[in-house]
Amino acid sequence: MRVVMVGPPGAGKGTQAKLLRERFGAAHVSTGDILREAQRAGTPLGMEVRRYLDEGRLVPDDVVTNIVGERIAAPDCRAGYILDGFPRTLVQAQSLDQIMAARSEHLDGAVFIVVPQEELVRRLSGRRVCRGCGAMYHVIFDPPAFPGVCGRCNGELYQREDDREETIRRRLEVYASETGPVVEHYRSVGLLREADGLGTREEVFGRIAAGVQ
Ligand code: AP5
Repeated sequence: MRVVMVGPPGAGKGTQAKLLRERFGAAHVSTGDILREAQRAGTPLGMEVRRYLDEGRLVPDDVVTNIVGERIAAPDCRAGYILDGFPRTLVQAQSLDQIMAARSEHLDGAVFIVVPQEELVRRLSGRRVCRGCGAMYHVIFDPPAFPGVCGRCNGELYQREDDREETIRRRLEVYASETGPVVEHYRSVGLLREADGLGTREEVFGRIAAGVQ
């Protein structure tokens, strides 16, 4: 399986990509996770991208494209991969086509998760993430048993810097202007697999899995 996950911030791309990984055994490649990890580790890449992430702006195309090109060449991607958060611009989509063609690979589909804007803001402003294992919670819809503590690994829960209300609005604007055309691109080539993102995670997963099999 080789698919890309597209959709606005908070649509559930990461949540559903993890479920697809479990079901189909493909590697989960999240550009957001890779960039945040570089930022946390203080690598040169992390220093370079810090202000883009914190301000909710897109990291330059060449930086993320190089990351993805290297990542999908790794052994765990041989059996397939789920790209979460890439491509986000038309230039990135074209670069992905070239990278895959050079590897004699083709895309099976672009999963597009549709969620209304008010729900996106609600999900993102209440999201908390575990520093230890990356598990996700929501302060109202999916709270941890003990506030601030991960129920899986006892790690500390934190709020992403870009999940503050003003930055969420900026990310949604950037999504509409930069990533909207990517959705239309995949629609025009017949690869778009649109799924209603409302309902429980399992309900949403059922719709997505039915569309990519
Ligand atoms: P990235 O990490 O990719 O963020 P995003 O696209 O804004 O997506 P999110 O992670 O916020 O949301 P999601 O759709 O994965 O939803 P999730 O499953 O977490 O990118 C961050 C930044 O990195 C960008 O702003 C940019 O700066 C940079 N970047 C990354 N890729 C780039 C690229 N290609 N080019 C340039 N720059 C790039 O779910 C959200 C919340 O909802 C969670 O709390 C979850 O528990 C909850 N939830 C999920 N499903 C449900 C459900 N069915 N019902 C109720 N709650 C749910």
